[in-house]
Order: sequence, then structure tokens, then C-alpha cells
Amino acid sequence: MPRALLLIPTTSYRAQAFLEAARRLSVEITVGSDEPNVLSASNPSGYLMISKVDISETITAVRQFHQNYLLDAIIGVDDQSVVLAARISEALSLPHNSVASVSAARNKHIMRERFKQAGVPQPLYDLFSIDNDLNVIAARITYPCVVKPLTLSASRGVIRANNEAEFIAAFQRVMKIVQMPDIAKDDSMQKLLVEEYISGTEVAVEGLLSKGKLRVLAIFDKPDSLEGPFFEETIYVTPSRLPMDNQRKIAVCVQQATKALGLEEGPIHAELRINEQGFWVLEIAARSIGGYCSRSIRCTNGREQVSLEELILRQALGMETYSFQREPQAAGVMMMPIPRAGVLQEVNGLQSAKGVSHIEDVIISIPIGQQVVPLPEGSRYLGFIFARAHRPNDVEKALREAHAQLQFEVK
Ligand SMILES: Nc1ncnc2c1ncn2[C@@H]1O[C@H](COP(=O)(O)OP(=O)(O)OP(=O)(O)O)[C@@H](O)[C@H]1O
Ligand SMILES: [Mg+2]
Repeated sequence: MPRALLLIPTTSYRAQAFLEAARRLSVEITVGSDEPNVLSASNPSGYLMISKVDISETITAVRQFHQNYLLDAIIGVDDQSVVLAARISEALSLPHNSVASVSAARNKHIMRERFKQAGVPQPLYDLFSIDNDLNVIAARITYPCVVKPLTLSASRGVIRANNEAEFIAAFQRVMKIVQMPDIAKDDSMQKLLVEEYISGTEVAVEGLLSKGKLRVLAIFDKPDSLEGPFFEETIYVTPSRLPMDNQRKIAVCVQQATKALGLEEGPIHAELRINEQGFWVLEIAARSIGGYCSRSIRCTNGREQVSLEELILRQALGMETYSFQREPQAAGVMMMPIPRAGVLQEVNGLQSAKGVSHIEDVIISIPIGQQVVPLPEGSRYLGFIFARAHRPNDVEKALREAHAQLQFEVK
């Protein structure tokens, strides 16, 4: 039986989906995590303690494990573990993306530099540190602009500024965010990226790379306008309602961007904006769509239906993926933003939300009694709503209707 090492936080929403996919494919999974697991003693091949801090220690541990239980692939599921997976794979001579390519995808400034060299259409940008004189920078840059940290995600710390005063306030606010206690301190946190603000509609693209060639699995429309000052993700709906010609151009841009970074294998998640001037790549991550959202992608080869996690496993283990395409149904997810800071006291209307037609599930992902923090300081959603229908418009309508049924009491 083939075996894959899955680098994933044990509390991740995705672990279950990967384990189910592995069962279907008769693949053995070893979960690599830096958290101890009570089951590891009874299942020594199922868990591997790894350090995210000491890479050489981790490589030694995986090498030893590999001698006892042969590994065929190493899969990093989140942004951090993707780089670790590439490093370990390189050491063990397993198929993988180069460390340089995944590291470039992980750092928004390096990514911009690679895109610039390769002529990928993107916003103008500049890098500034806290030591720069903010008044001087504020007078020099053009507006509107977007200030963002180099390595955070979920739009945390991404702020639009329309003038000098807003820019100075945004820069200082983002600098405070990157110093928050839950954020690992490294050199990338000393600097912020400032980009030209690109207006227009936004899409997210989910794809799978194999030997450098991109297969687009889904293009998601983001029908809520994302004009700032903060950029809360809300609704994703696929298939896209953009003209096919635009969808083809989106795929071309994403392929150009993956080539620019040197990404070759595995899932990618890209974000682009489209306006009268053209197509603009905001970013590419060398991982699949985050959180529970992967549930909105289901693929089929006409006989069986598979999850995105199964496709990722298949691709990593060199199994066939080409016969699978996204299902014929339209699908969508709403990431429910946090309305204000406080303690989540109560959620009402859950049953009515679940009862809206085309709604498949509503998940509240923050426990009652927990502190919630909105953007730009926060990084979590209140929960997720899932819908499927024949037409994308019905999916979008259902998501909005279900969300309108919910009341969140935050005090
Ligand atoms: N230059 C820009 N012009 C216009 N909007 C932008 C720009 N940069 C970022 N945004 C908006 O902010 C959002 C988050 O930015 P970005 O993708 O760079 O950060 P992120 O934290 O990686 O987000 P996520 O994890 O949600 O993908 C984008 O999806 C987009 O809506
Ligand atoms: Mg992004």
C-alpha cells in the first residue's frame, strides 16, 4: 500500500477529509504534527511528531521513519507546512515542488519580484520598513493603495488607504498586527508591502499542477464587492458566470504565474482581479483552498465522486486525476465574517438557515463563549454556509438567504 505523510495541524478541519480519501484509495496515512497525540503509542505508523522549528531534527526524524515505513509522498496542507513538505521531500528525494518555488509563493514580496521578472500582470508595488519615514513614503506613493503583511493570510492585516493620512494610519495598524502574540516572529514581519489598488471584480481559482501543467478545477466568482478598507471574504460561487473567453484568460494568467514561481506539482489557490485594463494576479498559494471551503469542490469521472482531498492525494501519489472534473452542479460557500469584537454569546436561526432550499450545511466554527475579533486584526470566520443547485445564481441567492436567517450575538 502506498503511504503519504500528511503535514497538518491535528485540529485542522481538513484532517478528516484526507483520512476518508485515503481509506477510499487504500492509502496509508501518517499524520505529521508538532502536537503530541495520545493515539501515537498504539499506532506508531499513524503519527509522527515533528518540529516546525528545527528543520534538521525533523528531516532526521522523517528519514528514520521512512526506513521503517516507506513514504511515497509528503503533503503539506497549510501555508507553513507546504514549505516544510518541500524541504523534507527534497532531503528524501521524493517528488516535490522546489523549496524556492513554495517559499516564493509564501512571501508576497518575493512573489511580486518573480512575477515582475516573468511579466505576469500584477499591481505596482513597493516594500517599506517601519524604519522608513512614513511621511516621506506617504507623500511619494499613489492612491488608492493597499498595505499588507508579507506572510499572513485570510486577509489579516490587509488595508486599503485612499490618502496620506489613511496610509500612515494603515501602516501603523498593520505593523501592530504583525507584532500580535500569535504571529511567529521572523524577518518578513519587519516590512510591509504597499501595492497599487486594483479595482474590479475578483475571482479565486483552484487548480492542480502536474509536471508544471495547470488544470483548473474551479473558478469561483466572489460576488460581494471587495473595495476595502478591509477585505472580508464572504461568498464564493462556482462555476464562474464570467464569459468563457475571460475564464480562458484567467487560466492562462494563472499558468503564467505558477511558471514564474517555478511551481510544478500539487494544488494551487490563486486570486485575480479583472477590470477594463485586463487581468491582474493578486496572489498564488501553493496549497488548496483553506478551511472548510474545500467542501464546495466535488469532482467526478462519471462513475464516482471524489473530494478535493482525494484528488490531492491521487496527484501526490502519481495516480490518475485527469478523468475527474468538477461536478455539473453549481456550488458555493459563504465564509461568515465577524461583525464586531467581543464574546460570541449566542447564535440564533441555525435551523431556519439550514432549511433554506439548496443549503447543504451551516457550520458555526467558533464555540459559544469565545472571544471573536473582526478584520483586520482577526483571522477567523464565524462559520461557513454551503449550497448546491443547478445554477450559480440560485447558489448565491441561497447563501444570502441562509445568512439572513442567522443572528449572532456578540457582546
Ligand atoms: N493590490 C490590490 N488591489 C485590490 N485589492 C487587493 C489588493 N491586494 C489585496 N486586495 C484585496 O485583499 C484581499 C486579501 O489580500 P491578499 O490575498 O493579498 O492577502 P491574504 O491575507 O493572502 O488573503 P487570503 O488568505 O484571503 O487569500 C484580496 O483577496 C483582495 O480582495
Ligand atoms: Mg489572498
